[in-house]
Amino acid sequence: MTSEQSPALHPAARAKGRNMTAIASGKGGVGKTWFAITLAHALARQGQRTLLFDGDLGLANVDIQLGLMPKHDLGGVLSGRLTLNQAAMAYDDGGFDVIAGRSGSGRLANLPPSRLRLLGDDLALLAAAYDQVILDLGAGVERTVRQLTDNAGTCIVLTTDEPTSLTDAYAFVKVTHMDRPGTDIRIVVNMANSTREGERTYNTLNKACEGFLKMSPPLLGVVRRDTKVRESIRNQVSLLTRFPNTEAATDVEAIARKLSDQV
Ligand SMILES: Nc1ncnc2c1ncn2[C@@H]1O[C@H](COP(=O)(O)OP(=O)(O)O)[C@@H](O)[C@H]1O
Ligand SMILES: [Mg+2]
Repeated sequence: MTSEQSPALHPAARAKGRNMTAIASGKGGVGKTWFAITLAHALARQGQRTLLFDGDLGLANVDIQLGLMPKHDLGGVLSGRLTLNQAAMAYDDGGFDVIAGRSGSGRLANLPPSRLRLLGDDLALLAAAYDQVILDLGAGVERTVRQLTDNAGTCIVLTTDEPTSLTDAYAFVKVTHMDRPGTDIRIVVNMANSTREGERTYNTLNKACEGFLKMSPPLLGVVRRDTKVRESIRNQVSLLTRFPNTEAATDVEAIARKLSDQV
């Protein structure tokens, strides 16, 4: 346990990340990046000043999904050429700001803990200028992902109904709960065939958490499987720009409303 995580500092640390929400999953390919973008867009549409931070330090791809050509990215921040603030760019179509990562950068994926902590502190300072900060995380449960999660007041764990995705979501909940008991963990079931089925998937995960961890992360929402998601990603535009009334868009907007009600 680091000094920041000591019980005495815990409330302050949580207050620091109150408006920061990390999107995690354990498993890759469950829709984290897509969900982070769509959630940021939905929050912006609801009038919230929103920043989307690409925290997938090894395989950043927020900019790819949105078809952005960022002049600046995290690489410039970490080499000391830019402040975090200078690396933020406006995504005009969505009405929110983006800090792009740099894909394929092994250097970023292997940042030392001390540097990552500084980045987290910078992000906390920058977060004061926004109502909501969304942190897209990489897959896995290793140190970098966990350390970035530490900055967030809320952690959304995304899962699908696939057993591997459920197992990895459980693993993520477990390590986060062990690292920082009391972290506000919420579950979102993505690519569900129906809301009912999504709720059943949640119940499976929740039973494991109750049985083995003696805790119960609440369900924040279910996002239905929607063919328009792939189509908008293929066209490199946000779903809410292209198909604002489709099922997945409606589901994410409901989640955004729930999230902003609580922050
Ligand atoms: N609700 C959904 N309905 C249909 N397809 C989805 C949905 N969410 C995500 N996807 C698909 O999953 C793929 C992987 O998404 P991505 O955001 O890159 O996942 P991750 O960041 O978790 O690796 C996307 O390219 C998209 O085609
Ligand atoms: Mg991703």
